[in-house]
Amino acid sequence: MRGILLAGGSGTRLLPLTATHSKQLLPVYDKPLVYYPLSVLMLAGMREILVITNTHHLESFRRLLGDGSQLGLDLQYAVQDEPRGIAEALIIGRDFAGDEDLCLILGDNIFYGQGLPATLSGAAATVDGCTVFGYPVSDPERYGVAVLGADGELLDIVEKPSVPPSNTAITGLYMYSNDALSYAEKISPSPRGELEISDVNRLLVAEGRGRIIQLGRGNAWIDAGTHDSLLEASQYVQVLQKRQGMQIACLEETAFRMGYIGMGQLVELAGRLSPGSMYGRHVQSLIRT
Ligand code: DAU
Repeated sequence: MRGILLAGGSGTRLLPLTATHSKQLLPVYDKPLVYYPLSVLMLAGMREILVITNTHHLESFRRLLGDGSQLGLDLQYAVQDEPRGIAEALIIGRDFAGDEDLCLILGDNIFYGQGLPATLSGAAATVDGCTVFGYPVSDPERYGVAVLGADGELLDIVEKPSVPPSNTAITGLYMYSNDALSYAEKISPSPRGELEISDVNRLLVAEGRGRIIQLGRGNAWIDAGTHDSLLEASQYVQVLQKRQGMQIACLEETAFRMGYIGMGQLVELAGRLSPGSMYGRHVQSLIRT
């Protein structure tokens, strides 16, 4: 499975923070927001990843992440010149996917939980149509929301409903079997003028090819797309990192633990980071362990 990290959009909900900066490069405590979804793809076993950004911020992403080889990844880049909708990522990434299945993650979504890597790699191995990931929230009207059957099966998805059919939000992480990618070509823009990912998923669900995996207790999910949720994400990461003395979404550590790089490369990467930064000190501490 290949990964797409969607990091475009206009970031209007975060103005004026996003007047000059990409939303996905804003800090979440001690590292850029984009590190979190990128580490999720890495933990799920993906090494070939397409980063989609807008024209203005492409160079900043390249400067930050390069071609990924330092992390044992193959990172490619594509531009979405206008925010025409999340589903357009499947169209932009069609050639990149080739014959492989695809996992799409939104660049402002943070996932964290101990069982997550196993859940994701299991889901990646069995996807047929689409697999989405549900999370219980108190404000479902902000998200795509699942309509669930008596046995918890996915019957439909409603995008930002004023009267939510359940409290299960559809998170910004989606898996598609290769043949399902063409469904993005079948939909039309919504009333807000966007190609909605929920519309692609609904087509697949209607054909009985949509599955939901509930990310329940033990997992955290934050859509860091508002000022409050961005701050809450920072606070969450700060509390966990300080209490547990470990790092969330440290890319160098993830690459090392996943076997994408060896100790020699880790030493090299640690040398590039300043011991003056908490993040740098953490990477350097891995060398001694
Ligand atoms: O976070 C999960 C939610 O994400 C889902 O529950 C919804 O079903 C889904 O529609 C989406 O809702 P949002 O309203 O949060 O989407 P937003 O427009 O904020 O875009 C999410 C990210 O995708 C954001 O980081 C910017 C990026 N994006 C968005 C669009 C519309 C792009 O890169 N290009 C785009 O065209």
